[in-house]
Amino acid sequence: MEVVIVADRQAAGELVGQAIADLLRRRPEAVLGLATGSTPLPVYADLARRCAAGEVTFAEARAFLLDEYVGLPADHPEAYRAFIARELEAHVDFPSGAVQGPDVRPTGADLLASCDDYEDAIRLAGGVDLQLLGIGTDGHIGFNEPGSSLASRTRLKTLTDQTRQDNARFFRSLDEVPRHVVTQGIGTILQARHLVLLAFGGEKAAAVARAVEGPVAAMVPASALQLHPHATVVVDEPAAGKFRQADYYRETFAHKPGWQGL
Ligand code: F6R
Repeated sequence: MEVVIVADRQAAGELVGQAIADLLRRRPEAVLGLATGSTPLPVYADLARRCAAGEVTFAEARAFLLDEYVGLPADHPEAYRAFIARELEAHVDFPSGAVQGPDVRPTGADLLASCDDYEDAIRLAGGVDLQLLGIGTDGHIGFNEPGSSLASRTRLKTLTDQTRQDNARFFRSLDEVPRHVVTQGIGTILQARHLVLLAFGGEKAAAVARAVEGPVAAMVPASALQLHPHATVVVDEPAAGKFRQADYYRETFAHKPGWQGL
């Protein structure tokens, strides 16, 4: 795993935006895995800027969302499909229909089938080339809460109280935060060819340190990144605050050959 400590969110956005632009230049039909929430916003802002400047095109690319709330109207501004349309698709040149999220409208057995269909759609697209990830203060990736199987696939999950409280800032009240979500599983996420996890702010420091430097455990879902051959963790200084090996990460990145990229 590579850990990169950057000065701030904007530097992280530029670094990861550059990696995505490089990927799309090498492989215009690349498949991206998109996270929502506040963390990926600097990356999306950087990609919008690069697209406007003609440095990158998404004309042949495709993308899959990590997760979606269950029970929100599809046009609710905090539905993740609406979030991605607003924060990324509106500012870059994805063809229509190129960005997909899990269909969370069915119930019962139909919802289980819809989760399987989503797995199939990712597989049929050739798998995800680069998966963006945030991390919850409880260590979740996607909405795989602590205790999620490291082999899990796309399915219905229940959010922890901690996650609902963390996400209440996007809603008018805690009561409005959905309890249920559909999320790609940890096993699904691990099949992406490159995982890029971002974390900003001191409130993420403990979770990211456990994920990177602690044991691999279902109770810390993000620790599953240790099992992946190409995982990159990009953090700002406050989020790096609890690493034991911070100096080593800084020295490694400072002396990395330029040709290696992320
Ligand atoms: C969102 C997602 C979540 C968030 C995490 C951090 O698609 O999968 O894992 O990345 O909850 O949220 P923020 O970025 O809002 O701190």
